[in-house]
Amino acid sequence: MKFIRTEDYYQMSRAAANIISAQVIIKPDCVLGLATGSTPLGIYKQLIDWYTKGDIDFSNVTTINLDEYKALSPDNDQSYRYFMNENLFNHININKNKTYVPNGLELDEKKACDDYNSIINSVQGIDLQLLGIGHNGHIGFNEPSDCFATETHCVDLAQSTIEANARFFDSYEEVPKQAYTMGIKTIMHAKKILVVASGENKADIIKEAFFGPITPKVPASILQLHPDATIICDNDALQKVSELI
Ligand code: PGA
Repeated sequence: MKFIRTEDYYQMSRAAANIISAQVIIKPDCVLGLATGSTPLGIYKQLIDWYTKGDIDFSNVTTINLDEYKALSPDNDQSYRYFMNENLFNHININKNKTYVPNGLELDEKKACDDYNSIINSVQGIDLQLLGIGHNGHIGFNEPSDCFATETHCVDLAQSTIEANARFFDSYEEVPKQAYTMGIKTIMHAKKILVVASGENKADIIKEAFFGPITPKVPASILQLHPDATIICDNDALQKVSELI
């Protein structure tokens, strides 16, 4: 694993956006695995900025997102499809027909997962997978578990995740309790992995996930085995591992 340390969130975002932009320039028809959450927002802002200046062309890029809440429609402002449209896709020249997010409205779990696996298989592999990391070590919505899930599956969200998401909804009852997520095997098959983390509140999990034992109790720990994983963190997120990198 390669660690890149940055001063702050802004520099973390720029460093990650640089790697994504290099991927798009080197392979204009690449497949990007994308993530939602607050951490990638600065990366998307930077990519939009470079696109607006004419420095990146997304017209041939395909994107595959990690996850989506079950039962939320794409026009619900808390859905991940909505997030991606608002924070990236609506502002760049990507062909929306080549941007994929699991279908939250498909309530038949097997069909939703089979359909997403077929899409992933049809694009011939993810060139670069962007990942945030949850406080419990989740990647996508692969929550701590007794085994590593392989392909797209429906998950019951961890209580801590539901609580963390509650701030975005009017009431606790409205917070989705399940989601469809890409599996760990699919993530591990991405040619390159790019993990981003910022802030003191990620310091413990960065240490546990990347310097502790590899275990499905900390799903991100499996990334220690990926042959081409880059972790970009600001100083605050690296404060517990400064002497280790
Ligand atoms: P965050 O979420 O970027 O909002 O911290 C990361 C995650 O839960 O994957």
